[in-house]
Amino acid sequence: MKTIQNIVILTGAGVSAESGIDTFRDAGGLWEQHRVEDVATPEAFARDPDLVLRFYDERRAAIQTREPNAAHRALARLDAEWPGELLIVTQNVDDLHERAGAKRLIHMHGEHLNAWCTICDARMPWAGALLDRPACPACQAAGSLRPDIVWFGEMPYRMDEIYHALNRADLFVSIGTSGAVYPAAGFVREARASGARTLELNMEPSEGSHWFDEARQGPATVLVPAWVVAMLGG
Ligand code: OAD
Repeated sequence: MKTIQNIVILTGAGVSAESGIDTFRDAGGLWEQHRVEDVATPEAFARDPDLVLRFYDERRAAIQTREPNAAHRALARLDAEWPGELLIVTQNVDDLHERAGAKRLIHMHGEHLNAWCTICDARMPWAGALLDRPACPACQAAGSLRPDIVWFGEMPYRMDEIYHALNRADLFVSIGTSGAVYPAAGFVREARASGARTLELNMEPSEGSHWFDEARQGPATVLVPAWVVAMLGG
């Protein structure tokens, strides 16, 4: 088998589930409680900004009360100790990967703890609420800040870097994602086409499970630390 040097890891809501953050498509998940088209599209924001801002204000407050779990910590350890290229691409908008210590990380769907000014285009760390329409600290415009979250119909961030890494990967690992949302759901095929081995770690087979060379089922806090220990040679 080809020696593994370059690794790309895709993570989704399942990685943060055991930290107490709701997933989207599991029973009782966020998209059962809210309609995507009401809270996660630019049209929803234009139509009812208070509803959208309140939804994200609640989530931004909640994640600050949560802690990284054993899966986040194991991935941070792999990032610190893996001598080859490594990139963690997360669809998650919480900050638990970085709080666990991960450095080689891309938030392709944005970040709860950032705000984005629609007037001056500045992005800035933001831990508080947006519903009360604070002025933009950069340009002082009032009511111009929105969550720095990629909504449906918008382009995910840093796709060039992600595809570059996928095309160089010897191993692609997908963790805790249902494989329902593109372009992330297509990464496994992109990596395969470049010759990477592919592994899925998820509670249940994802929608694209058949694309992976191997799929293991179980909780992320069990599967991920075990896989990382094996990768680092015990
Ligand atoms: P989903 O909610 O669609 O899928 C979560 C996956 O994690 C499911 O396949 C679960 O079986 C699995 N899972 C749940 N708990 C787990 C655990 N403890 N250990 C391992 N796996 C577990 O979430 P995502 O795939 O991340 O986008 O969703 C992708 C995107 O859809 C999100 O980034 C979000 C959403 O709409 C935006 O908001 C732009």
